[in-house]
Amino acid sequence: MGGNRLLQRVGVIGYGYWGSKHVRVLSSIPGVQVSVIDPQPDRRREAAAHYPAVHVAASLGETAKDLDAVVVATPPGSHAVVAMQAIDAGLHVLVEKPLTTSVQDAEMLVDRAAERGVHLMVGHTFEFNPAVWKLRELVRSGALGRILYVDTARLSLGRYQSDVNVVWDLAPHDISIVSYILDEVPSIAAAWTHCNVGGRHADVAYLRLDFPRARTQAFVHVSWLSPNKVRRVTVVGEKMMAVYDDLSDNERVRIYDIGVDVEGIDDPTAAHAMPVSYRTGDIVSPYIPFAEPLLVQDGHFIDCIRTGTEPKCPGPRGLDIVRVLAATDEFAHRDAPLALAGVVSSIHGEGPAGHVALPDPRSDGRSAAAPPILT
Ligand SMILES: NC(=O)c1ccc[n+]([C@@H]2O[C@H](COP(=O)([O-])OP(=O)(O)OC[C@H]3O[C@@H](n4cnc5c(N)ncnc54)[C@H](O)[C@@H]3O)[C@@H](O)[C@H]2O)c1
Repeated sequence: MGGNRLLQRVGVIGYGYWGSKHVRVLSSIPGVQVSVIDPQPDRRREAAAHYPAVHVAASLGETAKDLDAVVVATPPGSHAVVAMQAIDAGLHVLVEKPLTTSVQDAEMLVDRAAERGVHLMVGHTFEFNPAVWKLRELVRSGALGRILYVDTARLSLGRYQSDVNVVWDLAPHDISIVSYILDEVPSIAAAWTHCNVGGRHADVAYLRLDFPRARTQAFVHVSWLSPNKVRRVTVVGEKMMAVYDDLSDNERVRIYDIGVDVEGIDDPTAAHAMPVSYRTGDIVSPYIPFAEPLLVQDGHFIDCIRTGTEPKCPGPRGLDIVRVLAATDEFAHRDAPLALAGVVSSIHGEGPAGHVALPDPRSDGRSAAAPPILT
């Protein structure tokens, strides 16, 4: 292992869409020598053509002895096996999100990294994003007031994955952002997911995350099947609201000095009046210096190796998010539609709706199922 040597030899395992970006940013960090490990010859050829200085190899076994650390950028289903191999070879490991695709695997990685005395870090890239830092500062300083709720949307005509659904692919970002800005891991999750295309994995999902300490909730919408690309986090506070739009060039965070106050609705003479009044004020977009989050993240990983300090996104943090993802699976599998018995359609002149008898909640799978509680 490299210890405190200045030169760090880092292998990027998986030279696909995202691994190629790791190679680009790592190659720009002084004192980092990059290798690419990918079993596909065409991926290795492309890496060698773009980055003549990188070493290429077909497997970790071929090159582990010449490395200090690896970045695992393979498909999520392979993270556990690939990362475990690297840890067992005594290498520091940065694993892309999600850390693994099961809680058990994530626990094993965390334990094994601790036993071997190597860093295990997870690539929650948004926790290295200056716009998210700004959002966190706004929440923590109390500038927004008590947080009423958070709403996130990560939608587009996305890249369908073969080994995970849209929740495991995209929601790690939102769960990590919201839990980072609220400084709390959600304790309960509910999920509504649906597979529209391909018949294998859900491609649209809505999650509800509860944050009991912050007394708030987050609603997360992720989709691979949406015409518009959206990357948005809205934080609604009692005093002010903030919107982080990752697609905006120059106004990534906007702070709205607006809100709604409850009026005296107990007054019987004002029964017809609006029960609330509206506050409107300035909309401010603070200056946020640009720093590429992936470069900040990978630079931090290298610094941790050089200095021996604990990464900001260590393995247990990845495990926390995997627990939430696993809970959403459990909830989605329990879900069953709530049928309305005895409905007579009133559409197209078919007559008025008949008596609607709600089913006995005790006989309905969804009503009876309590949301999973994360321990
Ligand atoms: N942080 C982010 O914003 C972000 C964005 C996109 C993807 N990702 C993550 O990056 C990872 C890779 O995603 P992608 O879209 O680049 O996938 P991809 O399919 O484009 O690339 C995966 C690469 O891994 C290689 N590979 C597969 N199994 C391997 C193994 N066992 N050993 C070595 N190489 C192997 C494949 O040959 C391929 O080149 C995923 O975990 C994904 O969630 C993160």
